[in-house]
Amino acid sequence: MTRLFKREDLEQFLLERWSQQQITADRDLPRSALNAVLEQAAAAFTSALRCSHAKAAADLGAKLAAAYSLPAADVYCAGIAHDLCKELVSADQQVLARVCPIPCPPEVLSNHRFTHGPAAAALLFRTGLCTDLRILQAVAWHTVGSPEMDTLALLVFCADKIEPGRGGFSEELRAAWLSGAFPGEAGLLQLAGTILDRITAHCRIEGHPIADTTPVLYNALQQRLQHLTGTAGRPPKALPQ
Ligand SMILES: [Fe+2]
Ligand SMILES: [Fe+2]
Repeated sequence: MTRLFKREDLEQFLLERWSQQQITADRDLPRSALNAVLEQAAAAFTSALRCSHAKAAADLGAKLAAAYSLPAADVYCAGIAHDLCKELVSADQQVLARVCPIPCPPEVLSNHRFTHGPAAAALLFRTGLCTDLRILQAVAWHTVGSPEMDTLALLVFCADKIEPGRGGFSEELRAAWLSGAFPGEAGLLQLAGTILDRITAHCRIEGHPIADTTPVLYNALQQRLQHLTGTAGRPPKALPQ
């Protein structure tokens, strides 16, 4: 059984490591210093498997950042932090998620499978480690996505789902992504839609429930894609009754 951690211990760990890094007078640390602290926290407060997933997602995102005119260190930051609260006790995740500075729908805040996203964003914000709203959004929304995801959040959303440790359909999509098959915001919207499609098909085959949020997000992203490209796009998915 996975060992669960306490919010206070994680917060204290982050604040201690962070203060050790505060070497400049204005405390405006480079993102790389923050990323080093977050890597240490991921190693200490998540299982080896989850830690390597976070690093792989962060690495994949950082590798692709320049193609979307994003700072690699910012993408890495969101990637390494995105699952940092997943192994906190459930009540502690909820306490944090309730004070998340990024708006999240009630179904995310009340579902124990999804609270770790807003919880991690709140943790970064509360501790003062990161107040960059783009990074906080990417972290908060990574579980079920949001129609409002910008390029950074879309990139992290996709990297989380198809990093090299993921099996199934991820390899083919990742290879295409790395070879430039999904350029610009439109490309990321297309990739996110394809990932949602594949996840839905996989759930059907395996008999897993499909989250109500999946078709809603799919349709919203397709609509954005149609506006952006002026094309008809794929047909909308049926929404849950
Ligand atoms: Fe997650
Ligand atoms: Fe993840």
